[in-house]
Formats: sequence, structure tokens, C-alpha cells
Amino acid sequence: MANSPIGNIASLQDKIALITGASSGLGRAIAQAYAAAGAYIVNADLGPTPPAAPTIEQINKADYTTPTVDLVNKNYPSTKPDVDRASYVKCDVTDEESVKGAVKFAVERYGRLDIIVNNAGISAESSSPSYDGTFKRIHETDVSVLDKTLAVNVRGVWLGTKHAVAQFLAQEPHPTFGRSGSDVHRGWVVNLASILGSVGLAGGSAYSTSKGAVMQLTKATALEYAKDGIHVNAIQPGFTDTHLLENMYARGENVGQTLSSLHPWGRTGRPDDIARAAVFLAGEGAGWITGTSIVVDGGYLAQ
Ligand SMILES: NC(=O)c1ccc[n+]([C@@H]2O[C@H](COP(=O)([O-])OP(=O)(O)OC[C@H]3O[C@@H](n4cnc5c(N)ncnc54)[C@H](O)[C@@H]3O)[C@@H](O)[C@H]2O)c1
Repeated sequence: MANSPIGNIASLQDKIALITGASSGLGRAIAQAYAAAGAYIVNADLGPTPPAAPTIEQINKADYTTPTVDLVNKNYPSTKPDVDRASYVKCDVTDEESVKGAVKFAVERYGRLDIIVNNAGISAESSSPSYDGTFKRIHETDVSVLDKTLAVNVRGVWLGTKHAVAQFLAQEPHPTFGRSGSDVHRGWVVNLASILGSVGLAGGSAYSTSKGAVMQLTKATALEYAKDGIHVNAIQPGFTDTHLLENMYARGENVGQTLSSLHPWGRTGRPDDIARAAVFLAGEGAGWITGTSIVVDGGYLAQ
């Protein structure tokens, strides 16, 4: 809509977005939503294809075998002659050189970087071999669960922010949305936290700890870069049907019903519910938003 006072809050036209963990779940949905909004995508993940998730596949009725970048390139063809709409780079977010390499890849391929979505994350409690459908308390939990969780969910977000922000500072603001009024916007960091960054979950001591840390990391780095025009925000999803919950579905009883009943809206989240918030937080609608989070949880945290 030309000359609208709210601008075009659904547009990410020609922005370059690096999304960690976009081979599966929320990252995969965010990649598609960003491409639909006009962005170019780099998927930085351990592998290009979603992990097998039979129950979740059934729930989402999605094609869970096609690599994310193929899906995006098919549905949202590039309008530039020399690059695909989406590209894949192998990346382990726990490894600094690997994260630095993913940012370098994005810049070499697309010329710049405007958005990072620090999305890669794990639920080590429910994916541990000892998980039998019930969560263990801390005295029954091996410390390796904590170490693995913090490495991906906290160190990964910290490293992604560090290397993306270094690139934001080194380049000129994006020409189509570098300036809005008197403000300069240099970049957008979107971190995937969780409702469990605000409340606890018995049996999820490592995961809850990691998501609380992501909330604080979001605030601290927002303060560090506000003067530079770099936005840092988080999303707090409720339980959303992705591979992350696959073991809970596979090993527990009536999990769908139980999880749905925890959310006042009466259902669990769908990846697209979260992707819409991720578009908003990387665009013009979030022009004066930094250091906070959007809760997308069907009312879970209102209780
Ligand atoms: N699904 C939910 O209920 C839910 C709720 C709240 C928050 N979240 C958060 O959303 C984010 C995405 O989760 P999801 O539900 O889409 O899970 P998912 O398992 O479907 O996808 C996670 C992706 O991260 C990748 N990944 C894991 N470790 C990695 C590493 N070391 N380096 C690079 N990539 C790695 C995986 O390969 C996978 O593609 C996570 O941070 C998660 O904690 C999920």
C-alpha cells in the first residue's frame, strides 16, 4: 500500500537473512515466510534436510523430505539473475569458526547480511536416550544434558549474534529500509527463546535455563547496539509441533491432548504461527522495538 502511515510491515524486500537451523520446524517455516516477504535466505544447519519426524509430519501434513532450500527455491524463485532465493551452508552453531564461516558465506553469496534468526536449538532432555516419556528431575539428570543444551541454545545464539552484528556494523544500512524517518536501521537479530524463558517446566531444568539465558542475552545485546540502529528481539513460542517434540509424541501417551490443554487457545502451535512473528520482528513494524520479546503461545503465559 503506497504511502501508508504504517509502511509495509509484511515486506522484507531484498533483505538477506541468515537463519540457523532452518532445515526443520520453525526455522523452515521462517525461511518460507521470509522468502514470501521478499528476502533472500541462507539456511545454516548441520544438514540440509529435516530429521525424520513421522508424528509431526502427520500433524503438519508437510513435505518433510525436501530440503528447505529446494522448497523455498521452488515456491519463491529468485528475481536476481545470479543467485538462488535460498542457499544452504553447513554450520554447527556451537563452533565459532563454523558460525563465522556461515556469515562469510552469506556475504560472499548475497553481498551483505541484514537479518539473523538465531533459531537452532535442541531439547536434550526429551531427545536423551534415557527419555521414556516422562521428564527426569535434576538429581536424575546427567550433566551432559546441561552441557549439550547450553552449547547449542546459548553459545550458538551468542556466536550468531556476535558474527552477524560485526557484519551489520561493517556495511552500509540496506538502501530500501536503511532509514525510516530520522532513524537508521543497520540490522535485525531475532532469537528463538521460549515460554520456558519466563516460566519453569519441571523436568526441563537445562532447557529452561538455556531459554532464560537467551532472554537476558537479548536484552544485554539490544542495549549494546541500540545506538547503532541494530534491533535485537526474541520470540517466545508455546509448545509447537516440530521435530523438537517428536520424542514426546512418540514415547508419551495422549501427548497431543495434554499439550493442547496447556494452552488456553486449545491447541498446540503451528510453525506458521511463529513465522509470522519472525517476519514482524525483522521488518518495518518493529522500527522502535528492541530488547524485548513477542510471546506466541495461545495464551500459555497469561495463566
Ligand atoms: N517446537 C517448540 O515447541 C518450541 C517452543 C519454544 C521454542 N522453540 C525453539 O525454537 C527453535 C527451533 O526449534 P524447532 O521446534 O524448530 O526444532 P527442530 O528440531 O524442528 O529444528 C531445530 C533445527 O536446529 C538444527 N540444529 C540443532 N543443533 C544444531 C547445531 N549445533 N548447529 C546448527 N543447527 C543445529 C537441527 O538440525 C534442526 O534443523 C529452538 O531454539 C527451540 O528451542 C521451540
